[in-house]
Amino acid sequence: MSEFDNRTQILHELINGGFHSGEMLGDKLGISRAAVAKHVKALQTLGLDIFSVTGKGYKLNYELNLLSSTSLKELMNASHKGNIEVLNVIDSTNTYLKGKIAELENGEVCLAEAQTAGRGRQGRTWVSPFGASLYLSMFWRFESGFQALSGLSLVIGVATVNALEKIGVSGLSLKWPNDVYLHGTKLAGILIEAESMPDNSCGAVIGVGINIQLPEDIKEIDQPFTDIASHTNESIDRNRIAAEVIGAYREVLAQFTAEGLLPFKSRWMELDHFSGAEIAVSTGEQKVLGINQGIDDSGALLLEIKDSSGTEIKRFFGGEVSVRGQ
Ligand code: BTN
Repeated sequence: MSEFDNRTQILHELINGGFHSGEMLGDKLGISRAAVAKHVKALQTLGLDIFSVTGKGYKLNYELNLLSSTSLKELMNASHKGNIEVLNVIDSTNTYLKGKIAELENGEVCLAEAQTAGRGRQGRTWVSPFGASLYLSMFWRFESGFQALSGLSLVIGVATVNALEKIGVSGLSLKWPNDVYLHGTKLAGILIEAESMPDNSCGAVIGVGINIQLPEDIKEIDQPFTDIASHTNESIDRNRIAAEVIGAYREVLAQFTAEGLLPFKSRWMELDHFSGAEIAVSTGEQKVLGINQGIDDSGALLLEIKDSSGTEIKRFFGGEVSVRGQ
């Protein structure tokens, strides 16, 4: 059995709950207690919250439901046919799909239990502990090239909120262009990467990370964040969330391809967490202060700026929105 299979098997034993001694695990796998300890360490490094008690053994600190492509397909509406690949540990689901972009069909998806090099917007790292979140990427091709992408990230934000509301999460909102907030704190982030295809169409890899139940002692995240588990006492089925997100993305992508941003604009405005608020938009070195007036028909952010010569509305196509304390 390979190192990787040993690790997966130890994890499967721990998922059953209770304590598992190193000796018992070692006997089951035909390896030494020291080798078991090494594998447990590797699982902890991936972000799994496993603790040990002398004389009792190892225990997983929470219930973990693993992703399964079979469960996902069962949960998906029969009209959804695209491929869904579930991976264990990968560098980044976006990087993985980009690596085989030429072979992909619209709506193809990959998910991973953990990412070792998860990427966020503005070159940031997306901390991706094992089983703690959803790390999902989907491919979509836009025949008319890059200009068709304007507004895409906003539409995906709306679809993410719709999917989460469907499974009973309430208190969701959006920060331009597409950070998903839960009760005013970041819950999910979206990274869209576009590539030119040989036929001059544009291939988009749409990646989303949704925090579900992050380890209690997580320290590496450099911005305020929350997870779904902090706002509910009910158990959370990650396969169900993934199925809703995949379904919602495929539906909005088909409609967006045909009709553009307009059908989604009022819903986006309704979800805008900072509607009418004083915000700052940072683009490189520049930071512009003003009142958030929502978006225009292309998805650009509208900022009302007042100075001695009067009031003007400035449009932003990129940049980071911030408010005091966020
Ligand atoms: C953000 O900075 O808010 C965007 C975060 C996007 C994270 C997701 S997780 C799945 C996919 N793979 C990545 O490497 N990044 C995206």
